[in-house]
Amino acid sequence: MTFPRVRMRRLRRNATFRRMMCEIALSPDDLIMPLFVRCGSGVRNEIPSMPGNYQLSPDTLVEEARAVEGAGVPAVILFGIPDEKDAVGSQAYAADGIICQAIEAVKQACPALCVITDVCLCEYTDHGHCGVIHVNRDGRRDVDNDATLELLVKEALAHAHAGADMVAPSDMMDGRVGAIRDALDAAGFSDVPIMAYSAKFASAFYGPFRDAAESPPQFGDRCSYQMDYANGREALREIALDIEEGADIVMVKPALPYLDIIRRAAERFDVPIAAYQVSGEFAAIKAAAANGWLDEKRAALETLTAIRRAGAKLILTYWAKEAGAWLR
Ligand code: PBG
Repeated sequence: MTFPRVRMRRLRRNATFRRMMCEIALSPDDLIMPLFVRCGSGVRNEIPSMPGNYQLSPDTLVEEARAVEGAGVPAVILFGIPDEKDAVGSQAYAADGIICQAIEAVKQACPALCVITDVCLCEYTDHGHCGVIHVNRDGRRDVDNDATLELLVKEALAHAHAGADMVAPSDMMDGRVGAIRDALDAAGFSDVPIMAYSAKFASAFYGPFRDAAESPPQFGDRCSYQMDYANGREALREIALDIEEGADIVMVKPALPYLDIIRRAAERFDVPIAAYQVSGEFAAIKAAAANGWLDEKRAALETLTAIRRAGAKLILTYWAKEAGAWLR
């Protein structure tokens, strides 16, 4: 009888050893909480496909932001749902629009909380696309890249004027990071960082978000601007371009089906990597947990740790508030 000389289990024997050997310590500092805001007061509409997440009005948003901060989470990312949508997403950059009101309210109540804004037009356009529509060379309606850039620039500036600490363009237009960087610098906002949704895939996992933000595309899909989920090399090229254009943080989205992209990005680039654990990733685990098929807390923490292990420093997740409390 020979005994194994190397025994991996020796260092797993008790909780102290396991604590000492743990390679990834997930912290509330790593988390960013997405919040949805719409007009009104006292609004708290639960999003059916995202239990525990709400469409909030500025007053209830402030309460929620305080709770997020209280859980030790340093940042929120805000999504606006305007009352009026139009072809050019005017409410995305209106100085008195819902998103600017929300930024001001949260910054006033929680000055130390990092307020990030999603810079995109899909929540604000009546057609639900991430930019303005034209007819392309194939005779199809499509998003006009360069016309959209002008509006994204206006949107980022409006958010910065309202007090946003960071802007996060999520539209996937070419050149938007550079355009926004130049405009912010020219307007005196050179200290406002850009977190670019750099490798954003055309994903089935955004379904619940589109219910929450009331932003599904009214025709076609987003495949002419978001990435094909088969493509890893292209994702690295997108990330490299955004860094060249001045992105401070680059994001991979969704997270769990794209851990390989996160890993490759972390190995190749020295900027902080963020990953967005999107609505569908959240909803799938929530639904399984509601059926008693999974333990929600364990599954959530396992996925968040895996995303960190793959190489992301920051994670946008609908569990941020709860996970902050779990981790403290
Ligand atoms: C806006 C945007 C989307 C998400 C974040 N920003 C929706 C989309 O591209 O359709 C999705 C986030 C989620 O599913 O949690 N462009």
